[in-house]
Amino acid sequence: MMRSIEGMSLLVTGGGTGIGAGVARYFVERGARVTICGRRADKVQATAQALGPACHAVVADVAVDADRRRLVQEAVAHGGGLDALVNTAADMVRGPLAELQEDELMKVFQINVVSAMLLSGLALPELEKRRGAVVFFGSVHTRRAYPGASPYAASKGAVEAVTKVLAAELGPKQVRVNCVVPGAVPTDLNIRAGLFTQEEHDKRMDAIAPYHVLGRVGTPEEVAESVDYCIRAEWFTGQSVVIDGGLSLGLSPF
Ligand SMILES: NC(=O)c1ccc[n+]([C@@H]2O[C@H](COP(=O)([O-])OP(=O)(O)OC[C@H]3O[C@@H](n4cnc5c(N)ncnc54)[C@H](OP(=O)(O)O)[C@@H]3O)[C@@H](O)[C@H]2O)c1
Repeated sequence: MMRSIEGMSLLVTGGGTGIGAGVARYFVERGARVTICGRRADKVQATAQALGPACHAVVADVAVDADRRRLVQEAVAHGGGLDALVNTAADMVRGPLAELQEDELMKVFQINVVSAMLLSGLALPELEKRRGAVVFFGSVHTRRAYPGASPYAASKGAVEAVTKVLAAELGPKQVRVNCVVPGAVPTDLNIRAGLFTQEEHDKRMDAIAPYHVLGRVGTPEEVAESVDYCIRAEWFTGQSVVIDGGLSLGLSPF
């Protein structure tokens, strides 16, 4: 049984840009009320303004306890409760093994794993009331090996492990927990991680496109469709949904 989106209340971390903004747009356009957050005020506010009054912007850092508590409160106030938490916010740290710094590793785990878990715990009482859902974000980096991306891949592997455990833990409360695992989607993530510059972006996306079985990179909206299924399918929990145009199949030239 698929629930109706109309009237749903969602909290989307990292909803000011990229895939998170696409998720926010997808649900607002279908009648949900969505609270988004990020640290850069200009980004979250511009996205919320573009989506209209159904979207509420909160400038918040998910790594800060007081911000996480305020986020849940504001999402509940804006949406009249909470049906789903979508943990999209993430950081990417890259570098060869011997050059990795402890503080960089801790930072990527802090945002991608620890903060998402703690925020989910804070949202749980509200999610229980609505028999709601938590959606985590993994990455195709756990399916294909990208040299230099070990911190990010490790954090995303942890997220997928946590998804299974929490699904089992929260199933008796009728709260469903799933993980969306995207392939390459043009966003600023790789630019901010220093993998390539803004100027190189389109060329790099063209270069990775042929590694997808479907011959192209994805869009935030296509990823949002998988988030939608995770939130609305009532007998679906504990799963990783790979939405990657076939990138994880490891296309071979022969
Ligand atoms: N794009 C891809 O190809 C791809 C592939 C696989 C998986 N993913 C996953 O998809 C998700 C979305 O990434 P994206 O590609 O859309 O990149 P993005 O546009 O860089 O989105 C990341 C968002 O997280 C927010 N964020 C980061 N740290 C935060 C913090 N401490 N507190 C609050 N917000 C924070 C950022 O906003 P602020 O900097 O303003 O805080 C930003 O809006 C991530 O989980 C990523 O790992 C992406």
